[in-house]
Amino acid sequence: MLNKLLNGRKLSIKIKSEIFEKIKNEILNKKKRVPNLGIILIGNNKSSILYVNNKIKECKNVGIKSTLIKLPRNIEENVLLEKIHFMNENPIIDGFIIQLPIEKHINKNKIILTINPKKDVDGFHPENIGKMILGMDCFYPATALGIITLLKRNNIKIKGKYTVVIGRSLIVGRPISILMSRDNCIGNSTVTLIHSKTIDIEFYTKKADIIIVAVGIPKFITGKMIKKGAIVIDVGIHNISNKIIGDVDFKSVYKKASYITPVPGGIGPMTIVMLLKNTLKAALNNR
Ligand code: GUN
Repeated sequence: MLNKLLNGRKLSIKIKSEIFEKIKNEILNKKKRVPNLGIILIGNNKSSILYVNNKIKECKNVGIKSTLIKLPRNIEENVLLEKIHFMNENPIIDGFIIQLPIEKHINKNKIILTINPKKDVDGFHPENIGKMILGMDCFYPATALGIITLLKRNNIKIKGKYTVVIGRSLIVGRPISILMSRDNCIGNSTVTLIHSKTIDIEFYTKKADIIIVAVGIPKFITGKMIKKGAIVIDVGIHNISNKIIGDVDFKSVYKKASYITPVPGGIGPMTIVMLLKNTLKAALNNR
């Protein structure tokens, strides 16, 4: 029977060992300084703490150091900006992230604009977003890069296929819509980006060859909303009564899809591994 599952966990383990090898050969064996990822975490959001702890653990697993700065929920914007300058200017920090979401009293765009684009391993700074649109070398946002890599390494052809992306976030929807449509070996797909204000979502999803779901609503996409043989990428992650589920109703969609990412074990582990990859890229670029 065809294995429909796009196993992100298994692939992420393989890519982690590739990253570890590269660090060993290109950094440790050449007696260069160990890469270091800076992380700024604001407040006590349970999911954010979990994600950050996971990022630190995975850094350690491949030989990347991490430097965590924890700030209180009510941190003043200028104090946060000082911490960003500290990360920008500290030569031992190769790249850094500010874990999102951040508190409403802080101007997110001002924060993003303050990050040195050469250390922006999240790929959120306008210089990196602009370079991505232009097809230039830059940091791609980790989740979007994780999706592209999972498709590529499973030899899934997307050229000429109709992709529907659901959700227009900075983190996933907007960057993945650009990467899927670009003129590149993984690209050349015809993309429609739909979102919460789209009228008749099923009109689009029923036509899609590939559906990428990042809406943040549990079981939003069901089997009756997709066509037979569709490839379904689920970016959602929710803890409902101690069970981890995605934005896709796995049971009904699995029956009709040709490929589907599980939750957990699909895009989640790919995202973290792409952050490690970006950190290594920053370390090799910036020295
Ligand atoms: N919160 C959820 N996903 C992400 C991400 O990719 N980067 C950052 N900085 N915060 C996030």
